[in-house]
Amino acid sequence: MAELRIKGIRARRIFDSRGNPTIEVEVSVGDGRVVGRAAAPSGASTGKHEVVAFPQGGVEKSIELLRTEVARRLVGADAGDQEGVDWLLHEIDGTKNFSRIGGNAAVATSMAVAKAAARAMDFPLYRYLGGENAVSLPYPIGNVLGGGAHAGKMAPDIQEFISMPAGARRFADAVFANTRVHKLVRAGIERRDATFSGGKGDEGAWAPNLDSIQAMEVLAEACAAAGRELGFEVRPSLDFAASSMYDEEKGVYVYEREGRTRDPGEQIEFVADLIGRYGLFFVEDPLHEEDFDGFAELTSRVGDRCLICGDDIYVTNVERIKTGIKKRSTNAVLIKPNQIGTLTDTLAAVRLAKESGLVPVISHRSGETTDETIAHLAVAWGCPMIKTGAVGGERMAKLNELIRIEEELGDRARMARLR
Ligand code: PGA
Ligand code: ZN
Repeated sequence: MAELRIKGIRARRIFDSRGNPTIEVEVSVGDGRVVGRAAAPSGASTGKHEVVAFPQGGVEKSIELLRTEVARRLVGADAGDQEGVDWLLHEIDGTKNFSRIGGNAAVATSMAVAKAAARAMDFPLYRYLGGENAVSLPYPIGNVLGGGAHAGKMAPDIQEFISMPAGARRFADAVFANTRVHKLVRAGIERRDATFSGGKGDEGAWAPNLDSIQAMEVLAEACAAAGRELGFEVRPSLDFAASSMYDEEKGVYVYEREGRTRDPGEQIEFVADLIGRYGLFFVEDPLHEEDFDGFAELTSRVGDRCLICGDDIYVTNVERIKTGIKKRSTNAVLIKPNQIGTLTDTLAAVRLAKESGLVPVISHRSGETTDETIAHLAVAWGCPMIKTGAVGGERMAKLNELIRIEEELGDRARMARLR
């Protein structure tokens, strides 16, 4: 029997892909030689209802608490009992939103515990968490052109223009498709703007001086061209991150670059029209984070041909997802472990989504590290899609890990069923 007792916890301040401080945690088990390590990402267009990433006092305060209070309680606990560990993290924190120890400290610790246990048992993480039957690879969706909170002023108002290689038969081919779309998008931008200097936003997506419709055209052309080249369907998708555009006081969506606003009705029309015109596969956060009814209206109109996915509206929170299920707000749920703080809470959100026929889409944040944990979670929990960018070392860390997993699974590997 592997020795799974937690021996020690180390925490340090590292830096994410934006150069902002974040937290990395190492948990050792047994005699202390088996170590699991995990780091937390961070968002730019964060949802209002997410757990608090860092407490007052920032990363340093989280580290101090991990070294003292958290270590005192977790050392000696069973790393194989993930629920027990995660429950302890909640108990130590004592708040509803991890505002005392910080959600990022909690999620890094929770993931490091799982990784240590998996190592001690000599299993890859996806196998440890998902068992024998965890053999499905997710479809990777990648942000290839962007604006909003991830880029500068003249970039489009819509945050992410995304490539979805819906027809890929192997994960590695799907990743390649997204990198092709990324390259073709650059060419498409240059055809429209000879002065484009190759600037990118936070996730490695091109950040051109184009409006949303021009950007949409570039994306649609690039997806079609990549699809023709590769011989399978590649579909355009979008993340509006509409909470970032919403002016609460005026009750309108502000398209700053276009110099216009859309009221909620016009926003729904606009989104439905883009879905029809460009055959969008997936649309995330088309409306702001409190508008469950607006989401429901859109989903009832287009949900048979497009995935309408909630990110800021749900924040990986079971209670909020339940509201969305009751109101039929969406047919997909974005899953970000650090929005909710532990693996157990994240798994509860995935389970609820699957039981209710909503597609769980596991996701990175715009500020990332090379931590590859979400790649394993996608396979372990059978998430049919993973949203983790198209290029860039911190994005590729997850995608390349899935390429390794696909290879390791060999004949048993298959692409996930989408719906
Ligand atoms: P983030 O947003 O900046 O909060 O990570 C990414 C997203 O909206 O999906
Ligand atoms: Zn989003």
